[in-house]
Amino acid sequence: MRIDIITCFPEMFSSFFSYSIVRRAINSKKININIHNLRDYTLDKHKKIDDYAYGGSPGLVMMIEPIDRCIAAIKVDNDCQEVIYMAPDGEILTQSLSNELSLKDNIIILCGHYKGVDERVRTNLVTREVSIGDYVLSGGEIPACVLIDSIVRLIPGVLSNEVSALDDSFQDGFVAPPVYTRPREYKGMQVPDVLLSGDKKKIDKWLFEQSVERTKKRRPSLI
Ligand code: ADE
Repeated sequence: MRIDIITCFPEMFSSFFSYSIVRRAINSKKININIHNLRDYTLDKHKKIDDYAYGGSPGLVMMIEPIDRCIAAIKVDNDCQEVIYMAPDGEILTQSLSNELSLKDNIIILCGHYKGVDERVRTNLVTREVSIGDYVLSGGEIPACVLIDSIVRLIPGVLSNEVSALDDSFQDGFVAPPVYTRPREYKGMQVPDVLLSGDKKKIDKWLFEQSVERTKKRRPSLI
């Protein structure tokens, strides 16, 4: 999968891409990430990418021209399937949206800043708008990292079998059951006997029941 990110703060991504599953996915060429600095696409001699809002509302708005030029440059060698704008008022990110996006071969993710992008970008250049929740962050970079992380772990071969994404919370409509590791007892706190029983059928049944119980308690809307 190829992911092109458009941002005015490219350095924000470097540590995120250097660790854990995302790094492994990049190293094993399951994903190919290209970061584009929006300032490289402005024709303004001062490298300006934003300007005051028409109508006098406070704050700077990202201009359409550099964004349009950047998207056009990416599309020269890429039949991009989605141009996703990270926006607090976009479609809320869910496991099902991550599943859907993980099946794409090419996506562009546009990160906004300041007061956001000129509305004409949203109506003409973007195919989809995604929010990571009903709160406002200073820019789309952290939401883009959240989106990429949730997509990448679903790409076949990125996670090893023993940590399959199929066991993740929400993947089957339930939250994940509790997990335990050594020691069996810590300061009087015990691992449930059933997990030590070696009886696979009994363990699977218990895990399923725990999933259902937890979902009822923590995410009743899913039931
Ligand atoms: N940009 C600012 N806040 C955001 C949010 N909650 N989700 C996506 N993009 C954003």
